[in-house]
Amino acid sequence: MQEEIIIRDCHSFAKPEEVVITHSDINIVVDFNHSIIKGKVTHTINNITGSEMFFLDCKDIIIEKITTGVEEKKTTFVLATPQPFKGSALEININKDIDIVTIYYQTTPQSAALQWLKPAQTAGGKYPFLFTQSEAILARTWVPCQDSPGIRFTYDAKVKVPIGLMALMSANNSVQKTDDGNYSFSMNQPIPSYLLALAVGDLVYHPIGKRTGVYAEPSEIEKSAYEFADMEKMLIAAEELYGAYRWEQFDVIVLPPSFPFGGMENPRLTFATPTILAGDRSLVSLVAHELAHSWSGNIVTNATWNDFWLNEGFTVYFERRIMEKLEGKSYNDMLTVLGLHEMVQTINQLGIDNADTCLKLALNDRDPDDGMTLVAYEKGFFLLLLIEKTVGRERWDRFIQDYFNRFAFKSMNTEFFLQYIESSLFNNDKSQLEKINLNKWIYGTGIPENIPQVVSERFVNIDKCVKELAGGKKAIEIDTNNWTTHEWLYFLRKLPIDIPLEIMKELDDAFHFTQSGNAEILCAWFQIAIKNKYKNVFLALDNFLMRVGRRKFLVPLYNALLNSEDLKQYAKDIYAKARQNYHYVSTNTLDERLL
Ligand code: BES
Ligand code: ZN
Repeated sequence: MQEEIIIRDCHSFAKPEEVVITHSDINIVVDFNHSIIKGKVTHTINNITGSEMFFLDCKDIIIEKITTGVEEKKTTFVLATPQPFKGSALEININKDIDIVTIYYQTTPQSAALQWLKPAQTAGGKYPFLFTQSEAILARTWVPCQDSPGIRFTYDAKVKVPIGLMALMSANNSVQKTDDGNYSFSMNQPIPSYLLALAVGDLVYHPIGKRTGVYAEPSEIEKSAYEFADMEKMLIAAEELYGAYRWEQFDVIVLPPSFPFGGMENPRLTFATPTILAGDRSLVSLVAHELAHSWSGNIVTNATWNDFWLNEGFTVYFERRIMEKLEGKSYNDMLTVLGLHEMVQTINQLGIDNADTCLKLALNDRDPDDGMTLVAYEKGFFLLLLIEKTVGRERWDRFIQDYFNRFAFKSMNTEFFLQYIESSLFNNDKSQLEKINLNKWIYGTGIPENIPQVVSERFVNIDKCVKELAGGKKAIEIDTNNWTTHEWLYFLRKLPIDIPLEIMKELDDAFHFTQSGNAEILCAWFQIAIKNKYKNVFLALDNFLMRVGRRKFLVPLYNALLNSEDLKQYAKDIYAKARQNYHYVSTNTLDERLL
């Protein structure tokens, strides 16, 4: 069986079979006055075929000049006509003897990975902030590179920022600001471009354990350190499951609320939304998720975005195993049942015959971001759970650990994975393979009938409470003493679709949903309130939409508003005001519906 997988990535202009980057040296200045990054990147290349042309990915970047060799001889290049979402091929003339290429460039305010925040958009309100989001194909909007997950390189960086701000990357980071605003980084393990990351702001560090800690704005640091107190335990639990952590340090940075995702697994420095700071540590499975990516994704990486489920399905599975070690099986069961609900909802929305409900995606000629749904996460998870239940945990865990070691720092695609698992886990045992039917899970749409059934005992009690409520019991009389966030989320999800206004008010008076400090609960409650035109939430909803840029919350909330004839205009009005606070990733999804 071949070990090196080279697959043509339809979302990149790079030709790694000819010329491949092995190391990048980034040297940039962060200019908050003009909202641009300016500088150069020096790529060390391996010209495998002695090619005379070196192809890079580039989008919304201005190229000033390109040189070759240490002596920096100017070379010619063509920046091809930009294509939708992919941007341009940067075609650089080289020859077989050249192993160093330096590109002088600057970003533009359109560079989609970058979000430039004004002081007012931060917690402290005094300093500006910048963060990047490179996954899936946005690294090319701030560094000209071979922007394909199948290509790995090490990197060094020098970043100059205004004095008084701290710069952090997906690399080794300092724990204090420098006096001159100059920061140096190196990432000595080869990573794919989508894991390139930079954050700049008024930041401080709080260590948690030997290898773990958290960065945040000064006003948020204490709350963040409290929330993530279990990070070191998580890291140890993860290592016990699937082998040594290979990135030395695992820190989290809590970003301003406009960060478009819950979390992003940038190596050594996970980026996280502040909306997981619930005050009671109840949303930390997100940290377990990003930590799990340190194996699934960052060590063994999906070869193309069509194989995205290999990153996310494995990570959700691993995340839940970590949480089970920390909080017990009943906790894992709650996460799993909630995940199942979300998957069923997503698949019903897409339509059960929609090709996007397959695990293997067909994103060719599309923006990968459009096809990357919860299906990869949850259907991927359930397939892995089915395999676990078929072969037994012990054998399965051994297989996963071997898999991470054997393919460490390599990429993996679905077809190779299938071949590998069939021979090395199942020993080509026909009866087990038939029982699972991997092909149906991976290439078929919808949810296969043999999906494992998971029951959450803790939710059985919630079902009972919802029934009692329907039977006329007063909300205030329900015993909710030991409910955690997950029980509340399940409760909200199980409420009837149509709820009379007086009951909405009764629920709110009893449980104070509208005042909740928990963004997950707020978002679920807002959706119910919008459907039932419960106007008391509108002030809080307004605040939420103005402040939070996390796409997972914005999409269902704006959809709920748009679904109501009377609230359509309100949705457009608030979007027009709030849009400036959202990252490209979120506006790219929402614009079509709301502009
Ligand atoms: N890698 C993803 C985020 C991502 C996915 C960015 C696709 C760009 C394209 C990250 O690990 C993730 O899955 N985040 C989730 C949280 C998780 C707990 C399901 C999120 O942001 O909601
Ligand atoms: Zn993930």
